[in-house]
Amino acid sequence: MPCSPAPLAPCRLLLLLLLLPALRLAPAPIPAASRQGRTLILLDVNGKSPARVTSERFLSLQLDPSIVHDGWLDFLSSRRLVTLARGLAPAFLRFAGKRTDFLHFQNLKNPAKSRGPGPGPDYYLKNYEDDIVRSDIALDKQKGCKIAQHPDTMLELQREKAAQMHLVLLKEQFSNTYSNLTLTARSLDKLYNFADCSGLHLIFALNALRRNANNSWNSSNALSLIKYSASKKYNISWELGNEPNNYRMLMGRTLNGTQLGKDYVQLKELLQLIRMYARASLYGPNIGRPRKNVVALLDGFMKVAGSAVDAVTWQHYYIDGRVAKVTDFLKTRLLDTLSDQIRKIQKVVNSYTPGKKIWLEGVGAASAGASSNLSDSFAAGFLWLNTLGMLASRGIDVVMRHSFFDHGHNHLVDQNFNPLPDYWLSLLYKRLIGPKVLAVHVAGLQRKPRPGKVIRDKLRIYAHCTSYHNHNYIRGSITLYIINLHRSRKKIKLVGTLRDRLVHQYILQPHGKEGLHARSVELNGQLLVMADDESLPDLKPRPLRPGRTLVIPPLTMSFYVVKNVNAPACRYR
Ligand SMILES: *[C@@H]1O[C@H](CO)[C@@H](O)[C@H](O)[C@H]1NC(C)=O
Ligand SMILES: *[C@@H]1O[C@H](CO)[C@@H](O)[C@H](O)[C@H]1NC(C)=O
Ligand SMILES: *[C@@H]1O[C@H](CO)[C@@H](O)[C@H](O)[C@H]1NC(C)=O
Ligand SMILES: *[C@@H]1O[C@H](CO)[C@@H](O)[C@H](O)[C@H]1NC(C)=O
Ligand SMILES: *[C@@H]1O[C@H](CO)[C@@H](O)[C@H](O)[C@H]1NC(C)=O
Ligand SMILES: *[C@@H]1O[C@H](CO)[C@@H](O)[C@H](O)[C@H]1NC(C)=O
Repeated sequence: MPCSPAPLAPCRLLLLLLLLPALRLAPAPIPAASRQGRTLILLDVNGKSPARVTSERFLSLQLDPSIVHDGWLDFLSSRRLVTLARGLAPAFLRFAGKRTDFLHFQNLKNPAKSRGPGPGPDYYLKNYEDDIVRSDIALDKQKGCKIAQHPDTMLELQREKAAQMHLVLLKEQFSNTYSNLTLTARSLDKLYNFADCSGLHLIFALNALRRNANNSWNSSNALSLIKYSASKKYNISWELGNEPNNYRMLMGRTLNGTQLGKDYVQLKELLQLIRMYARASLYGPNIGRPRKNVVALLDGFMKVAGSAVDAVTWQHYYIDGRVAKVTDFLKTRLLDTLSDQIRKIQKVVNSYTPGKKIWLEGVGAASAGASSNLSDSFAAGFLWLNTLGMLASRGIDVVMRHSFFDHGHNHLVDQNFNPLPDYWLSLLYKRLIGPKVLAVHVAGLQRKPRPGKVIRDKLRIYAHCTSYHNHNYIRGSITLYIINLHRSRKKIKLVGTLRDRLVHQYILQPHGKEGLHARSVELNGQLLVMADDESLPDLKPRPLRPGRTLVIPPLTMSFYVVKNVNAPACRYR
């Protein structure tokens, strides 16, 4: 049978596969033919060498200082929260947000008791010498870790208190005026204890808005915090300020990149004088969306402090208000808003310090605690997973989710300490995805998209080496992850390197009648819930026999571990 000119003919696709051995980084645009849903998509990856390598802590977490305000800080040691956080280790925990620049450290010898009668949350703290949590990841240094089992009534009271505080926090956010917050030494202990118990490396963002008359940074309060931390031997990395381009709106004062750069150099010198932190990492400047003036700020900063920071950071919130209904999370235009930003940041960074690592911080569906109450739905996962895929494939080293746990809707864990859909997605990601990114090759690629052109694909395919921490898979295995935004199922045939291998399938779908609104998820048809406060469920794959076509259900996120590929890129660390 001759190849018909119809674009749907499979023989034409095969022909194209032979003629065009073009390798592209994910997401690979899917040929027009497959959009009708009838075509078999042929998928291969380049397993010879990684296209990119991210940090081992690529998927990392942020914790907002608002938890000082609403009282949740006192409950971070809760066994269930620690279990959940441990599931996502190894990761960074960045303690930062809008209130970073309103935080004052206070080291009182005898802190006044602010609690009412009865024992406070600390009364329930216990030392755990050993791992209390069964985890795939062996974590050392758990000695001295304090974990609590708070009574339900106490948590209930805290939830009521936090609900009232939530309104105050929201009001501050809407008016963009924040009250000063005191962080006591005791609170810092609790924060560090949580990070340490969970296997997370703490990054503390210091208040950058303490300024001298000549606009230089006044480091005296920061120094007292740093010295206290050193006295406790806390292993912390540092950052200075949060979204400095926003200071004019916050405080009616501008800070240019040169000044901020000098402040970072000052901080670096200060850390070098303290033995504990002489070699501590420093990150920054956490600028916002790279509009023209923000790029200018970054440029000035890099000129002065480019070599002082260990990674250059920026933050992004997918615009408030744009996500007004769950189907907004399916908009490819929203998914692609990051693409241009990555290019802009990379351009500035590479012009001063080529190859310097770049991190995206504070990413979330909208600013913390914003009006959108859809960020904890199943649908939000499309945005989160695509963010992870896009950033890794573009060489971004680390991404910090805002937040692990806070008063808004953008968190991974809610105030009943129940994991939300994005938590489960993150857990699956951590278990299956290693830092090595592989180029994806889709048959039928007809033309390269022009640079800067918005890619409107509704089927996005990414590939990495399978995580070495996952002992179910031997080294050399490959994990694919696929976002299907189509309302129809898609069929994919693994070819080349991936051909005829045993595949483990992990499909995430919403649980219950709410569909995309669901706040619980199913993995391969089974509801995901915590077994108890100290254990996460097994994430059980569904084995597919070698050579079987992958059928990707509509509106799903799925992971496929292609076993025993023995891919050279994935064999060694
Ligand atoms: C917060 O603290 C800063 C620095 O000490 C001070 O300048 C400012 O007035 C304080 N703001 C409020 C609202 O108290
Ligand atoms: C820096 O701030 C502290 C108060 O936090 C103040 O005592 C000190 O004088 C300030 N330093 C300078 C140089 O202004
Ligand atoms: C700015 O003021 C601080 C504190 O008064 C001083 O230590 C610093 O040298 C000044 N910087 C410049 C550039 O004048
Ligand atoms: C502190 O943590 C970093 C990051 O995990 C690690 O590389 C470093 O060795 C640690 N430093 C100490 C003194 O434990
Ligand atoms: C940046 O700000 C500092 C202090 O506010 C000022 O002295 C300096 O002239 C500014 N530099 C530029 C390039 O605007
Ligand atoms: C929050 O979600 C509910 C439905 O779950 C909806 O009725 C309500 O209007 C939403 N509120 C806001 C502020 O978006």
